[in-house]
Amino acid sequence: MYLKNKTVKDMYKICVIEGDGIGREVVPATVNVLKATGVDFEFVHAEAGDEVFEKTGVALPEETINTAKECDAVLFGAAGETAADVIVKLRKILNTYANVRPVKAYKGINCLKDNIDYVIVRENTEGLYKGIEAEITDGVYTATRVITREACEKIFKFAFEMAKDRKKQGKEGKVTCTHKANVLKLSDGAFKSIFYEVAKNYPEIKTNDFYIDAMNMYAVLRPETFDVVVTSNLFGDILSDGAAGTVGGLGMAPSANIGDEYGLFEPVHGSAPDIAGKGIANPTATILTGVLMLRYLGENKAADRVEKALEEVLENKLTTPDLGGTLTTFEMAEEVAKRV
Ligand code: NAI
Ligand code: MG
Repeated sequence: MYLKNKTVKDMYKICVIEGDGIGREVVPATVNVLKATGVDFEFVHAEAGDEVFEKTGVALPEETINTAKECDAVLFGAAGETAADVIVKLRKILNTYANVRPVKAYKGINCLKDNIDYVIVRENTEGLYKGIEAEITDGVYTATRVITREACEKIFKFAFEMAKDRKKQGKEGKVTCTHKANVLKLSDGAFKSIFYEVAKNYPEIKTNDFYIDAMNMYAVLRPETFDVVVTSNLFGDILSDGAAGTVGGLGMAPSANIGDEYGLFEPVHGSAPDIAGKGIANPTATILTGVLMLRYLGENKAADRVEKALEEVLENKLTTPDLGGTLTTFEMAEEVAKRV
């Protein structure tokens, strides 16, 4: 996993933003698991999301942004309807340009195939999520999709470095670019051609590219053939939820937002109002997010221990109902913590 390794420290300050809905369950459950590693953490709690918006009229308080910037990493749960003003905004403020979304089949989980192990790298700062929308005349709405050479070069370099790193760990060493260059001729035409330009610096890494619609099908038919998949913001958002569905669902999908200065870690899922407060949310996505955070901090041994403990818990079906078990969110996390 190519995550910018920070210098190993004696103590890490982590900004914890639980947010809304199941964020308030899966994040504290994961904090218990992180505490069990013995790594010295100071957890600094900060607010964001629908609830703080209802109270104060601001979804992402200035104080939260400052805390996030002062800490070694941010662990985020989920926002509800304010997600665009909270998490999409925070990713931009912290300039975490790479959204890393591993798609991995764990034993004991009902996956499409048992040898799925790839990573989606999603451009995180522009594309359709730039948020440039307008009503140009009555009843006619536009959204501007922004693709810049600078952001393309950065995200492709990140993807290739990750593939290099994964190759060292025995993976294939391949980057797949996915786009819609046949229709979005100018913007995705550039996206595709810059991909092959950057690829020239990595002759040891294999490359290919697919249109996003076909890619979506391949992610279902032959997910085991992918190693690193790189794409733009909206395509990555859609592709990664579908991909999560091939390895057990959103409860299994972690993510890391990485920039040159900051790391922001969050499960792929949202606040899940349909199950919030019932104690049945699957904490796996957030625990795996914690594993990504540990690797980012350079605490690889602790990361391995958490992942191994989680694997054991999954194999033994000591899980929440979505995975066929009978445990609550906190009970499942406790089973992991015990084994760390
Ligand atoms: P969602 O990801 O919250 O839920 C989709 C489905 O997956 C639901 O059926 C839910 O019960 C299930 N699910 C999600 N996480 C789960 C877990 N850990 N364990 C078991 N089942 C799980 O997406 P949805 O329903 O489209 O959106 C709900 C709210 O979340 C909306 O207000 C949306 O704006 C927000 N949202 C926030 C995100 C963020 O903060 N990063 C991302 C996506 C949505
Ligand atoms: Mg999404």
